[in-house]
Amino acid sequence: MLNFDYSIPTKIFFGKGKIDVLSDQVKKYGDRVLIVYGGGSIKKMGLYDSIINIFNDNDITYFELGGVEPNPRITKVREGIKLCIENNIELVLGVGGGSSMDTAKAIAVGRYYDGDPWDLLVDRSKVGKVMPIACIPTMAATGSEMNAVSVISNIETNEKFAVSSVDMFPKFSIMDPTYTFSLPKNQTASGIADIFSHIFENYFSSTREAFIQDRMAEALMKVCLKYGRVAMDQPDNYEARANIMWASSLAINGLLRFGKEAVWGVHTLEHELSAKYDITHGVGLAIITPYWMEYGLNDSTLYKFVELGKNVFGLESDDEYEIARGAIKETRKFFDSLELPSTLSEVGINDKQFEKMADDAVARKDIVGLMSLNANDICNIFKMAL
Ligand code: NZQ
Ligand code: ZN
Repeated sequence: MLNFDYSIPTKIFFGKGKIDVLSDQVKKYGDRVLIVYGGGSIKKMGLYDSIINIFNDNDITYFELGGVEPNPRITKVREGIKLCIENNIELVLGVGGGSSMDTAKAIAVGRYYDGDPWDLLVDRSKVGKVMPIACIPTMAATGSEMNAVSVISNIETNEKFAVSSVDMFPKFSIMDPTYTFSLPKNQTASGIADIFSHIFENYFSSTREAFIQDRMAEALMKVCLKYGRVAMDQPDNYEARANIMWASSLAINGLLRFGKEAVWGVHTLEHELSAKYDITHGVGLAIITPYWMEYGLNDSTLYKFVELGKNVFGLESDDEYEIARGAIKETRKFFDSLELPSTLSEVGINDKQFEKMADDAVARKDIVGLMSLNANDICNIFKMAL
């Protein structure tokens, strides 16, 4: 196991009715809040009214930034920073899916930066002071409520980058699984694919002795397998929604990654797809993952596929390659069971930008680890996925 410093500073309030803690928690940081949300789902489910009533009853002054779009834009972040400066905001509250939470985080990190916030996405070393952030997730997917990352798109440049800093962990997050009851089937499915992929990104690692992390990862995969379809068919099944919601946080809050090398190759590919074609993040991951597995299977990676096949899918055979191929098949079967697409053509992507996306993917970071990829490999995976 590699050395690591354990720190997950976000305070979590989990369960039905936990919104009760909101005013006390906010007041630890001030009484002027910017609420950041999306296209209206929080109004339909009544969460918006609950928050406003709590703020009105407790003398908390609030301002709003609604209309955050999926694959959130830097333009919205700029608007939010302006609101924070003009109104002396003390805490940014992201309410909704990853897009709203990530916008809140990017606003908080851009607030004290003396320049355009996109600079921070391009070069995270420029990050300085960060405003306090809090989150109320309504979708189980990104785990943004318990990690220090924000992913933002720039439509003008067709880029989608991530910024992170230890100060970007939310101070607190309120996680009430009932807020996810209204999530449509397709968003539930893409959220689960995202969680599954986060677990994979940590699991497919060249660090062999992280037994604890690997067995925890397998447990979280089993949560997705057990409850994924249930949450789609029974949207108000609390047990399913609660287990998936907690899995979404644990998959990407560092717990599975501490002590391990992890290169996040599939996410690098998917961020190119959603940057250039504005597709849903989880859908892109579900398409790419099984092809990436097929492409990456060889004698030196075999052991990891065998662990997955045996420990998660219960496969047995004297032929290790048979188990490995079975694990890839089971992974695709799982995404199929969630009614997710399996080819790029299905989401309207052709081969026109494959080379550009592959070059852009490796320009920002080296994908080196258990499943190392160069630009040529990435192009090949895109072609397989066509
Ligand atoms: O905009 P509203 O009206 O809220 O509707 C949203 C949106 O249309 C809807 N929704 C969310 N909760 C709902 C609901 N509809 C009904 N009932 C509810 N309870 O779902 C749609 C998608 O929302 P979005 O926030 O875009 O989804 P998600 O949580 O999947 O976030 C995706 C974004 O996060 C990034 C992705 O790249 C993408 O930009 N990621 C962020 C990460 C992070 N911060 O750590 C890591 C991830 O790997 C990922 O890259
Ligand atoms: Zn993801």
